[in-house]
Parts: sequence; C-alpha cells; structure tokens
Amino acid sequence: MRPDLLDLLACPVCGGDGSLELTAGEIAEDGDVVTGTLACPSCGVAYPIERSVPRFVAPADDYCGNFGFQWQAWRTLQVDRLSGHKLSEQRLIADSRWPRAWFAGKTILDAGCGAGRFADVAAGLGARVVGVDISAAIDACRETTAIHGGGPGGRVDCIQASLFELPLKPGIFDAVYCMGVIQHTPDPVALMRNLPKFLKPGGRLAYNFYEEGLWRRLQVIKYALRLITPFLSVDANLALSKALVAVFYPLTRRLASIRKVRILNHFIPIASVHDSQLTPDQQHAWTLLDTFDWYGARFEKRQHHDRVAALLKDVGLKEVESAPGLCWAISPASQSDDASAPSR
Ligand SMILES: C[S@@+](CC[C@H](N)C(=O)[O-])C[C@H]1O[C@@H](n2cnc3c(N)ncnc32)[C@H](O)[C@@H]1O
Ligand SMILES: [Zn+2]
Repeated sequence: MRPDLLDLLACPVCGGDGSLELTAGEIAEDGDVVTGTLACPSCGVAYPIERSVPRFVAPADDYCGNFGFQWQAWRTLQVDRLSGHKLSEQRLIADSRWPRAWFAGKTILDAGCGAGRFADVAAGLGARVVGVDISAAIDACRETTAIHGGGPGGRVDCIQASLFELPLKPGIFDAVYCMGVIQHTPDPVALMRNLPKFLKPGGRLAYNFYEEGLWRRLQVIKYALRLITPFLSVDANLALSKALVAVFYPLTRRLASIRKVRILNHFIPIASVHDSQLTPDQQHAWTLLDTFDWYGARFEKRQHHDRVAALLKDVGLKEVESAPGLCWAISPASQSDDASAPSR
C-alpha cells in the first residue's frame, strides 16, 4: 500500500470522517507498505495490510471466488500493455465517453477492478487510480499495475473491499467507473446508488452493465445451465467451460466469419470472441475466460438502462444519459444544484 492512500481512506464502520491510522510492518525500498495494520481510533476496528494490499473483506464475505480464480488464471490476457492489443483502452474510452486526454491528473475510482485492465490504461493515460475489488482479483490487479509505482508518485492503489462498504472518504474522485461488475453483485440498485457519493462536485460517472432484453431470452441453454453452475466449485465450472468451448468453439469461429450468419452465435452457450486484434490462441483463451465468467458468477442481475438513468437522476446526478448496457452522469457542481437529491 502506498502511504499516500491514507489521505483517501476512511473507516468503513464509522464512515466519512473516520480516518485510519497506519502501523507499518515490512516496507519495500520504494516506500510501499507490504505488511501492516490500519486501525480506526474511534471504533477500534483494525484491518490487515498483506502482500501490499489493505484488506477490508473477511473471507466469508467474498462471494467472488470464481473471479478471484479467473483474474489470476488469465491475468494478462485483457491487459493491452501485456498482450499486444488495444481492446481495453478502446472499450474504456468508448464506454466512459471520456477523451484520452482528459485522464491526465485525475483521481479515478475503478469499482470492481478485476485484473486491472482498465486501471492500467487509465494510469497509462496519466490518472491516479484507486482499484477496489472484493476478491483475490485484487492481487492480480496489484501485479498488473505494480509498474505504475508503489511509492510516492505511484499511480495505482489497490484495495480489497466491498463496493457496498467502501473504506473511502466521500467526494474525493474526479471520476468513478464501474465496468462489468454491477450485474455480478447481490444488489445492483444499492450499488448504483452508493457509488456517486464518492464523486467530487462535477465529477463524472460511467456504468457498464448487462442489459435486460432480447439477448438474454435467446441464450436459453446458458440460462438453463446457470440454474446450477453458480453453486458448483471453480474446478467444476472450469471443466464445464472447457468442455463447452471444445465442442462449440470451431462452430462459432466459422459462423463469425460469415457476415449475416454470425448473429447465430448468440444462441450458442459459449461467450465466443473472434476479434481480429487477437491472435487465434488469444481468441480461444478469451472465449474460455468469458465462458467461465458466464457460468461461474454467483449473481447475474440484468438492468434496463432507462431504469438505471432514472435511479441516477433520483440520487441527484445531472446530465444523465443512457444507452443499452451503459449510463453516464455528472455529480452536481454545488450543494444548491443538489437540493432535489433525496438520499445521497
Ligand atoms: C466480470 S469482473 C470485471 C472486472 C473488471 N471491471 C473488468 O471489466 O475486467 C467483476 C469483478 O467485480 C468484482 N466484484 C463483484 N462484487 C463486488 C463487490 N461487492 N465489491 C467489489 N468488487 C466486486 C469481482 O470480484 C470481479 O473481479
Ligand atoms: Zn471506525
């Protein structure tokens, strides 16, 4: 943990003003705190720092063992810098609608950072990023982003915490993005209402989520299998995903090359990826990763983008816009703008 992170942390029990006190154990040469404790002087609660990451999640509260495994097993595949493509940068810019040049100097929350594919891009564009994840994915993110510095001037901080109980002060981020996470939580609405309070006045919010609608209804086999797969072990889901990919991948590959026919891939129970920026081996690995992601996730709760937009307006956000699977908004610039906000 970079000691600078202390300025942003708050006791998740006491809330906003409950600063935490750091007792460092092992400190790396660059100043990174490898082991130590964060304690709240008000309520006395203490959290460990292990392997350079402050840990606010009790093992029993981590419902994302699948993601912990997934992002360690395929840590580098979606990271542009490590795998020779630009898919993560393209997706971050397209889904956030923030221009590349805007990132420099901003402080940004990556809510549910996984292996750090977007944190790595944002830091590369000059932002300071705080990546938060509930699962062991945070260790993958830390490894991915260590290149951005562990001491003073470092650009990425990694925290293992739940987005429902963030150990962060409110009103500190220029932007918050949450990509591919909302549907995988037990209470998407509560999550979407909680994150905006961490924005500075005028800060930007971008959500990407699974849209409710036609595609879900076409994926009959996937959802039949998902009646049981969220309750299977990681090993069983991996074996199932490998078997499905072995059977269906050659077919999806052939269909993907035929323009009007490739839509049929939506009926097939694997998450096939055939992007030409990827090598054939990467396409196969990405398909297995996304298929495992489909079946292993404990929760998959889709949203309708109109309802997401209504919810963000209800918490007082401005300039709310949405499209299928996406929603953007801006935090009110001043308290008076926020007068209509019922519950922030
Ligand atoms: C599909 S992955 C997406 C990761 C990353 N945003 C990306 O797009 O590559 C979903 C991530 O959300 C995390 N997650 C799920 N529920 C969470 C929660 N309540 N708090 C923090 N992270 C959570 C999981 O551990 C997982 O790493
Ligand atoms: Zn406290």
